[in-house]
Amino acid sequence: MKGLILSGGKGTRLRPITHTSAKQLVPVANKPVLFYGIEAMAEAGIEQVGIIIAPETGDEIRAAAGDGSQFGVSITYVEQDEPGGLAHASLTAEEYLDGEPFVMYLGDNLLQGGITDLVESFRASAPDALILLTPVDDPENYGVAELDAGRVVRLVEKPPQPATNLALVGVYMFTAGIHDAARAIERSARGELEITDAIQHLVDEGRRVEPHVVRGWWKDTGRLEDMLEANRLVLDRIEPRIDGELVDAQCDGRVIVEQGAVLERTTVRGPAVIGAGARLTDAYIGPYTSIGEDCVITGAEVEHSILLAGSKVANLAGRMESSLLGRNVTISRSERQPRAYRFMVGDNSEIGIL
Ligand code: DAU
Repeated sequence: MKGLILSGGKGTRLRPITHTSAKQLVPVANKPVLFYGIEAMAEAGIEQVGIIIAPETGDEIRAAAGDGSQFGVSITYVEQDEPGGLAHASLTAEEYLDGEPFVMYLGDNLLQGGITDLVESFRASAPDALILLTPVDDPENYGVAELDAGRVVRLVEKPPQPATNLALVGVYMFTAGIHDAARAIERSARGELEITDAIQHLVDEGRRVEPHVVRGWWKDTGRLEDMLEANRLVLDRIEPRIDGELVDAQCDGRVIVEQGAVLERTTVRGPAVIGAGARLTDAYIGPYTSIGEDCVITGAEVEHSILLAGSKVANLAGRMESSLLGRNVTISRSERQPRAYRFMVGDNSEIGIL
């Protein structure tokens, strides 16, 4: 069984962060979202993993994930020439997959508990496809499934009036038959070959599509709120570890301080992670915050936020919260003091506040 991770596409909903970098590399608890998918594959015993990349962001993905040896898998990159949809991506990888059954994992998805049990169940019952479903509050933003007596009867991509609240989770298991289904369907209104339509085609042909309802949490990290929530969910389970240096500083609860980080006259209230080489001085870091490598925070309070590597926050009068800062962003206060801050700022930005 092979793995296929989809890490192409456009990433429009996380702009401006994704103007300059791939959305699958935005970190959750200081680890790129994409890595969680690769690790889930490795854990499930999948040794060969194909990663679909887009021409614009492919190099960055290659640089981050490399040949896969850091995860104990072998990675092959497959370039998709246009973001033609998830079924188009699977067709692009047809030669790589070489007729084998495969797990397809959307590179911006996070699934608690991994995929080991699902892979085993797929092997044991050998259906044509296995799909994962979970109830959500906003099914109109996802592929939506209708079941009848535990069987899949209809799948619709982002229906304006969803028939159920069961969303398709971005992890699927297929046999090679999915390629013929992908060839048989037409592009959707958004111009994509939808995997949802390809699976519907399997259902229409009387193939066996097995639904599994996910028990743990699942997150599609496509939007800012989802990133912050994914960050919360992952931080809630970290094992505390202090490898950096604390000088007159205090860490409460689940806190990781990586090696080379220096915290001076600073309080960190977990769950939080402070990346290697970060320097925090006269700062307060509140719960659900991930501070990236080499960030510098001086005289400021940051809570419920994600700061990518190299960002600087200095001398804020108010607490910064629910924010996502790209790489090398600088936020510092000038003369006057606004009461609240809320930011979504792209890479290499610099903001001076009045
Ligand atoms: O997250 C679950 C949802 O994912 C499902 O409920 C939907 O049925 C499914 O269509 C998909 O919807 P999205 O609109 O959220 O997919 P998105 O365009 O965000 O792409 C998902 C991942 O696949 C993302 O990491 C980018 C990558 N991708 C996307 C396209 C369109 C590719 O690699 N190639 C592509 O052509």
